[in-house]
Amino acid sequence: MTVVIYHNPACGTSRNALALIRHAGIEPHVIDYQKCPPSRALLAQMIDRAGMSIRDALRVKGTPYDELGLGDPSLSDDQLLDAMLAHPILINRPIVVTTKGVKLCRPSDVVLDLLPDLLLADFIKDDGEPALRDVEIASDDPGLAEMLAAAQLPTGDLAEPGRTFFAYRTLSGALVGYAGYELYGADVLLRSLVVPAEVRGTGIGKAIVARLCRRAFDAGARRAWLMTTTAADFFEAIGFKRVERSGAPEAILDTRQAKDLCPASAVVLSRPIRL
Ligand SMILES: CC(C)(COP(=O)(O)OP(=O)(O)OC[C@H]1O[C@@H](n2cnc3c(N)ncnc32)[C@H](O)[C@@H]1OP(=O)(O)O)[C@@H](O)C(=O)NCCC(=O)NCCS
Repeated sequence: MTVVIYHNPACGTSRNALALIRHAGIEPHVIDYQKCPPSRALLAQMIDRAGMSIRDALRVKGTPYDELGLGDPSLSDDQLLDAMLAHPILINRPIVVTTKGVKLCRPSDVVLDLLPDLLLADFIKDDGEPALRDVEIASDDPGLAEMLAAAQLPTGDLAEPGRTFFAYRTLSGALVGYAGYELYGADVLLRSLVVPAEVRGTGIGKAIVARLCRRAFDAGARRAWLMTTTAADFFEAIGFKRVERSGAPEAILDTRQAKDLCPASAVVLSRPIRL
């Protein structure tokens, strides 16, 4: 398989994606896009094939984004592309191209979607988190209900419409958890996150939330919400902030989780979803 990675050697996510491609036995074409940026037409085409808007592909952190006023929503795609070509650091990374498609690979294990679907040795990223594969599952998947029940999480509304669930496995195929979401426009309720007790505390929960947020982003979500009685500290450790229940959008407060399944004492947490 031919693989091209638009790489930034100073970026941990880009290095992890490159290492994962090599871990799969493939030596990719590595393009340092700051030294050798793609043409305007190729950049626009890759972003389109990745299913993103030009704005979604802009990098904010560590770039002249604010200085150039690129947050101005009236700027056209052409103006944003001009800025990206004048300052290639504004192109978010890494963009990976294979015969299976094009993606901005954030978190890095998204790159696995573009590689052959083979069992591999387990892989631990630079920051100690394991690389995981996610597979969408049916809401009546027996393993999901069983693991949620074992962790005393609600199962009463699993079969209702509008829920999307995933199973997570290490690269060698071990099942290491489940999670799901309910999408309400740009808001998404994260739910049913569970990691088996014997592998907790090894970075899997954090890795699952990153993958889940990315799937939700691809479905249109830009802010994540959740309710928990047991894991508020975990979510705060990974960047969520506590909010008053009344500060959550009506669609989130109207969910079964909010109305029936989580007690009024459950903590509400939220975080923007950015790539
Ligand atoms: C909550 C849960 C998913 C966390 O999964 P995990 O794989 O153990 O978490 P991680 O190892 O990825 O931890 C990530 C970070 O959160 C911290 N953390 C994990 N659990 C924590 C807790 N209970 N309190 C405080 N911090 C916690 C870790 O120390 C780690 O911080 P670090 O990156 O600074 O080291 C897991 O404990 C679980 O399945 N619990 C039962 C079900 C549940 O409560 N689900 C949430 C429903 S909303």
